[in-house]
Order: sequence, then structure tokens, then C-alpha cells
Amino acid sequence: MQRGLEGRVRRLRVAAIPAVFVFLASCASNAPQDSLKPEGPIGHKIDNLFFPVLAVAGVVFVLVQGLIVATIIRHRHRPGRPDPVQVHGNTKLEIGWTVIPALLLVGVAFPTVFTIFDLASEPRGNVLPVDVYGHMWWWEYRYPTLGISTANEMHIPTNTPIRLSLHTIEPGLPAAKGEDFATGVIHSFWVPKLAGKQDVVPGRVNKLTIRASDPGTYQGQCAEYCNLSHANMRLRVVSQTQPDFAGWVAQQKKPVAKPAGGDAAAGYALFTGRGTCVGCHTMQGVEGAVARTGPNLTHLQGRETFAGATFDLTPENLNRWIHDPSAMKPMRPDQGTGMPNLVKTGPHLTDTEINQLVAFLETLK
Ligand code: CUA
Repeated sequence: MQRGLEGRVRRLRVAAIPAVFVFLASCASNAPQDSLKPEGPIGHKIDNLFFPVLAVAGVVFVLVQGLIVATIIRHRHRPGRPDPVQVHGNTKLEIGWTVIPALLLVGVAFPTVFTIFDLASEPRGNVLPVDVYGHMWWWEYRYPTLGISTANEMHIPTNTPIRLSLHTIEPGLPAAKGEDFATGVIHSFWVPKLAGKQDVVPGRVNKLTIRASDPGTYQGQCAEYCNLSHANMRLRVVSQTQPDFAGWVAQQKKPVAKPAGGDAAAGYALFTGRGTCVGCHTMQGVEGAVARTGPNLTHLQGRETFAGATFDLTPENLNRWIHDPSAMKPMRPDQGTGMPNLVKTGPHLTDTEINQLVAFLETLK
């Protein structure tokens, strides 16, 4: 008897370990992608729906499970107990447990449907449209009304609805007849503190509105498995005051400043020539350098990260990256997705040339 009890306690303890880990994981103080700590009006609307529904579901769960457990314990079989009275059917109870859940569901459905329509509605007023393009495995942002484009770190002005049009393209793959680019694969754009997830689907344009009340950086990531580097397809939304945002836009519009001399000038010559970089990357102010297979690098140093907002933008990391991109982030350049190894293929860059390229990339303010 005693030994059976000990075994049961031990099993309970073992079962509790994963539960403790899950519980502790939810206590992280630095959780930049915590959708339960929303920011901005859209995040709060979702939150205002989630918690009341969770409360209703919680009460139902505790009530139903509590009754089941209490009944099991109280009426369990014991030696010498007679069989309980057998009943069949109870009209009052059956009507009750049909009507009450139905009413609860109606009560939950109304705010849910209203919130869904509210979130999907076209925002009014001073709206900033941004075209988002999911690539394998990074994000491209084009601002049609401002004539600028950037990658991975989207800048937005505060207190402005940002209407995103979500596309997926893969310029490294052969396009179908009559199309500019091959359609890519499914991605999902997700910035947990600012809005819900929205799938990015080949052949159609999905819409999503985001809006931030305060300046700050909001982290997000691709939330739909999109092959090899799905986990390295992160993103940031940088919310800025109106004047700061205007300053950022003015900077993004500038063409590249051609370096006067030294390693950076040699790097510029490589970037636009033998290095073949402009075959994939846009460099504003360089004739014909408008490719979209890789990110627009004209103002690379305006970002804190690179390669799908995965690595800190440091000279050391850029150097390591150019030496062997797929060693840092798994990609398939041989299949047209991801940056090729330019040491082993193509221009066969030397260490000196890579230093020159990095010196040039460091000047791209
Ligand atoms: Cu893109 Cu997962």
C-alpha cells in the first residue's frame, strides 16, 4: 500500500516537470514577441477580445472538469457499496446543457465577429500604404507613395494606420510567361505586439493594418513554414515620431555616396563590377542596379540587423557572411533562393576583396 503511494507520488513529480518548464517559460521578463503585452490600438483590440473569451472558457472549464472530478471521486466504487440508482434521460437537464452553452457561444460570437470585421476593414484618414514582399528568407518593403524601398526593418510613423499589402515573390526563380517574377511560397507576416498574423499567399494580395502609438522597435517573424530558413526570416518594425520618420524617408531617397578612395572605393568598384553584387542587390544611383533578388543595400547601415533581421550588422558579421552565407543561415543559392558563396563560385572573391567590399558596405549610411 505504502509503496504504491510512493510510486504514484514519483510519477506525479515526473509529470510535473514539463508543466513547470512551460510555466517558467511564460514568465520571461524579456519577451519581445509577447502577444499578451500588446502595443498600439490594433493589438489592444485583439487583447480586449481574447481575455473575456478566455475568462468565459476558463469558468466553463473549471465548472465542467470540477463536476466530473468531484463525481468520479464521490461516487467511485467501494467494497460493499450497492450499485447506484440507474437513471435514463432527464429532459430538464438536457435542455439546460443545450441552451446554456448555445447562449454562451452566441455571447462569444458577437464580439468575435465584430472584432474580425473591425480589424479587416479598410482604415480611414492619413493611411500610409506599404507593399510587403516575402522572399525566401527575408522581407522587402516598398512604400509606393514615398518611392522608397528597404528590407527586414520596416520604419513607420507613430499614430498612423499602416496598410500593408502582402505579396510573395521569388526573383531568383524563373518567372511564368507574362509575369515579372516567379511567385514564391507561403509566408506569414507577424508582429505579435502590433497585430495578428496574416498569411502571405502566392497569386493573391492579402491586407493587414498595423499601427503603433509610441516610438519603439517591435520584433516579429515569419509564422508560416517556408522551407530551409523559415526560422531565420525575422523582421522588425521601427516606429518613429513624424519628424524622425520624415528624416528617415529623406535619407532613404538619397542615391549611394560614391567613396572617394581607399578600400571603400575599391569595394564600390567590386560591388558594381567584378563582384557581381548588383546582379541581385539594388544600389540607388548606380545605373541598372535595381535587382530585387536580394535586399536593397543602398542604406544598409541604417539597419541594426541583416539577413532576415537575424544577425547584428557588424563588419565582422558582414565579413563572415560574404565568405560563406549559407554557413551562417541555411539557404539554397543553387536553386535560386539565397545568397551564393562568392568565394567558391562566380567572382571567386579573395580575402582582400571581401575586406574592400565590407569597407564599402560600412559607408552605406
Ligand atoms: Cu517565410 Cu516562414
